[in-house]
Amino acid sequence: MISKSIEKALNEQIAKEAYASFYYLSMASWCDNNRLPGGAKFFYMQSDEELAHMKKLFVYINETGGHAITPAIPQPPNGYKSIEEILGLTLNHEIEVTKSINSLVDMCLKEKDYSTFNFLQWYVAEQHEEEHLFQSIIDKVKLLGGDAKNLFWIDKELGSMTARG
Ligand code: FEO
Repeated sequence: MISKSIEKALNEQIAKEAYASFYYLSMASWCDNNRLPGGAKFFYMQSDEELAHMKKLFVYINETGGHAITPAIPQPPNGYKSIEEILGLTLNHEIEVTKSINSLVDMCLKEKDYSTFNFLQWYVAEQHEEEHLFQSIIDKVKLLGGDAKNLFWIDKELGSMTARG
């Protein structure tokens, strides 16, 4: 069984994962509208992944005596300047999500909720993967330089990325 405070915090995390899914969906749409099919494919995939992160929390909360709540999702931005800007925003966003997961882990330790602590280890590992992924893409873009000629290769690279589960 989870405590009311952990249930509330996990429900707040549900809202954050849902927002991340919408945020990446808006980036996919921007890429589609700016003739970047590789970027669009990549961000549609990221959006699906965030939805899966959200659903995992739903199942866990309901399995442990809590009630998972479908969140209200604020509208993310829809206009971006460039793919470089988008990649910077995604990294910053993932860093914020990592902080949120870490404070959930802290809370579980304080409450001695080892089941939720254990459940959250998947998210700890996932955040490490995502921060690393976005940082490595940004590094590659910096290496290539962001001019129009290289945009083709950046887009191709994004389109070649596959889901990590
Ligand atoms: Fe579910 Fe990208 O954090």
